[in-house]
Amino acid sequence: MIFSEDFMNELRYKNPIEEVISSYVVLKKAGSTYKGLCPFHNERTPSFTVYPNTNSFYCFGCQNGGDAVTFIKNIENLDYVESVRLLADRAGMAMPERGYDDSVEKLRRTVLAINRETAKFYFECLINKQDDGIGLKYFVGRKLSTDTIKKFGLGYAPDSFDKLKNHLRSKGFSENDMVLANVCSKSRKNGRAYDRFRKKVMFPIFDLRGNVIAFGGRKFPEDEGAKYINSSDTPVFKKSKNLYGLNLAKNSGSKTVILTEGYMDTIALHQAGFNNAVGALGTSFTADQANLLSRYFDEIVVTMDIDEAGQKATGRAIEILKTTGIKVRILQVEGGKDPDEYIKEYGAERFRILLDGAKNDIEFKLLGAKNQYDIKTDDGKLNYLNSAIEILASVGDEIARNLYAGRVSSETGVEKSVILNRVQRAKKSGERKALKKEFSEITRPKYSPNDVNPDAKKYRRAAYAEENILAVLMQYPQYAKYVFEKLKAEDFLTQFNKELYSKLQEILLSGKEFDISYLAENYDSKQIGRVIEINNKFTFSNDLDQIIDDCIKVIIDEKDKLRIITPSNMNDDDFLSALHREAKDKKGKNKNGRD
Ligand code: CTP
Ligand code: MN
Repeated sequence: MIFSEDFMNELRYKNPIEEVISSYVVLKKAGSTYKGLCPFHNERTPSFTVYPNTNSFYCFGCQNGGDAVTFIKNIENLDYVESVRLLADRAGMAMPERGYDDSVEKLRRTVLAINRETAKFYFECLINKQDDGIGLKYFVGRKLSTDTIKKFGLGYAPDSFDKLKNHLRSKGFSENDMVLANVCSKSRKNGRAYDRFRKKVMFPIFDLRGNVIAFGGRKFPEDEGAKYINSSDTPVFKKSKNLYGLNLAKNSGSKTVILTEGYMDTIALHQAGFNNAVGALGTSFTADQANLLSRYFDEIVVTMDIDEAGQKATGRAIEILKTTGIKVRILQVEGGKDPDEYIKEYGAERFRILLDGAKNDIEFKLLGAKNQYDIKTDDGKLNYLNSAIEILASVGDEIARNLYAGRVSSETGVEKSVILNRVQRAKKSGERKALKKEFSEITRPKYSPNDVNPDAKKYRRAAYAEENILAVLMQYPQYAKYVFEKLKAEDFLTQFNKELYSKLQEILLSGKEFDISYLAENYDSKQIGRVIEINNKFTFSNDLDQIIDDCIKVIIDEKDKLRIITPSNMNDDDFLSALHREAKDKKGKNKNGRD
């Protein structure tokens, strides 16, 4: 624990969660809880719930949850200690003078300082024309203005193994920290640090508060190797949770965001006046990124490659985005160009026209189906109609369904009423399927795609019992001693539950009661959300003793099932009894006359 027990208790007491949250979210009382629209994802009906009696919040839509500190961490995008500081200020409390362990915060600060210094260094090298100014020549060749270069803090990493390192050392940074920040690598031969980016044009990546959190470096056209090298994840950077240019786009005033594939497209769009562009960071689009965007925008236009891989990637991105409730449109740039090339060739005006004409996902799917077939032939027409009917059947809005059925009708010459009729039938069978699926989902525990406990899918029975036990411990600490005696953390089969169990042991055995804020330091809001979900999922009646014993038995059983004994690790007795069992099995089979 970074802060003392007493300090955290006071902080909690002086910052009632419903008060803290209601400065950000409009909350309505609903019994003993409060409900509101989730600030972490885009939604129209409130699934964000605040529980004053446990000082926690949980969103049933995006599964984020936590205490007041987690809430501040996420909404203000601060780290743990900074969030505590904000709440202390809010309540007029003084932060503890010293004596709290701030090593993680210190490390983050050091890495951020190294990044800032590094970005400055690269920028200077660019402007001072290091290595004959090849960096600046490159950017100028790509039609970037000085203003754009400054706005994005672009730079040049010199063709050297130690220029950055020496510079950073002169500023007092250690080689170890340079490696941690991932601007240097460690030599396998002698363990010394050397510059990671050499002879590259550099793209610093900023977080929402303007810190430099990572870098992308592009090679020159004449050089061999990968086009880009990027920072790996560091104490201050997680690729899957950030977007290039979001620090700028979020201030564009636009409710629409343009998603591109990378650095150059984002920059070119900003330079052409589209200040609302962001770039994916060379990974497939993630749910975290979708949630992040839905906090600032109502609509997203996805620009994409026309090729097959691009289509697939876009399809996946659309599915992820839909779950956040954000409106999605798809922009296909003509002629297989990326936005950067397109704008250079045809100008911003024509890109604006493309943007305004970007298709919604129904149009996009219909177009994709149409392109698959030659609808001049009867055969092609039929195939297209069949696909179109499937697509229209998945459209929830009746007006939209009508509109697009009309389009398909005029494209194919088949009467609209006939098409709608078939759509209706497809919808019915679709609904039956959906109902069946929903049913199987209710009867089975539900797991979200980026699950915090993927093991639970593998060991459903064990996971269910584990969660029961965890909920008991959170709600009835008086059973802690009994449970801990019978059940060790090693008995747990799923990693997340195992870690939570250990954490509960640590808390409860020191005589404290469980409180969600004990997790806020090390768990992210998805993980805390899961803990709250587990806690809320189970309510117990008076046969608690029986439930506990049953669950312990299930957990141990499931674990024993996994213990595979092979002849080589059996002792003599095991070996003999196994042999005996095998002989008996064979006899049994013979009796049934199956052999
Ligand atoms: N990317 C990467 N590593 C690579 C290739 C691509 O990380 N080897 C990422 C970069 O973020 C890049 C994005 O994927 O910006 C899109 O790739 P691409 O279209 O090839 O790059 P552009 O940004 O268009 O760069 P350029 O116009 O200079 O080719
Ligand atoms: Mn490009």
